[in-house]
Amino acid sequence: MTNTLLYEGKAKIIYATEEPGVLLAVFKDNATAFNAQKRGTIGNKGQVNATVSAQLFRFLAEQGVRNHFIDQPAPNQLRFRQLRMIPLEVVVRNVVAGSLCTRTGLPRGQVLLAPLVEFFYKNDSLGDPLFNDEHIALLELATPAQLAQIRTSALAVNEWLRAFYAQRGIRLIDFKLEYGWDEAGQLSLGDELSPDNCRLWDIDGDRVLDKDRFRLDMGGVDQSYYEVMQRVLQL
Ligand code: TMP
Ligand code: ASP
Repeated sequence: MTNTLLYEGKAKIIYATEEPGVLLAVFKDNATAFNAQKRGTIGNKGQVNATVSAQLFRFLAEQGVRNHFIDQPAPNQLRFRQLRMIPLEVVVRNVVAGSLCTRTGLPRGQVLLAPLVEFFYKNDSLGDPLFNDEHIALLELATPAQLAQIRTSALAVNEWLRAFYAQRGIRLIDFKLEYGWDEAGQLSLGDELSPDNCRLWDIDGDRVLDKDRFRLDMGGVDQSYYEVMQRVLQL
């Protein structure tokens, strides 16, 4: 089988496969943070992120959340249906952490009364700026109706993932999603769902289990990623 390199990102290499519309993502152990100013590797990250993403995409598909996942041909590889990606990072937050602390002054750990949805323009050279609905309309990234659909979907994903992680003794603090349009013109969830893209705290004592351990030099990074994978595979 010949695959053609399409794109190499910070965490994944994407190949076109011989099957039209089917992509192969190879997940790397490389880790970056703060717009790639910090670089390193996390042991088994490729396998952990592919496996966690596969489980969560399967679970969300069962709940009726359309997504691009096909299968996991190798521990660090996923096959996806190709989407026409919307260049937005859709962040949903349940608890104050990260850039919400620094932007608002709210204390880390404060539980939000309702989930907060934020949009960041996916553009490394601009540093992924925070966008509101009007910026999104200005750049014609989505129509108001499409944006409403994205918001509704992201909030539904939050409820499903929150319940999924709660069953495994983990609090879902916040996470980032990326969406696109499939060949049928339907909104579909894309990218990955892994400890790189979310904040996960142990229900017992709020021990950090996600990429903040790497970002903030907290140690025990490889072990935490592996623990998340094992807990995601439970039940
Ligand atoms: P933030 O608090 O740094 O804005 O991050 C919010 C969530 O988005 C958090 O779960 C981590 C995730 N995230 C990414 O997936 N990619 C990124 O580049 C950034 C900055 C955050
Ligand atoms: N992955 C992003 C980067 O390298 C940021 C992050 O996850 O903190 O820039």
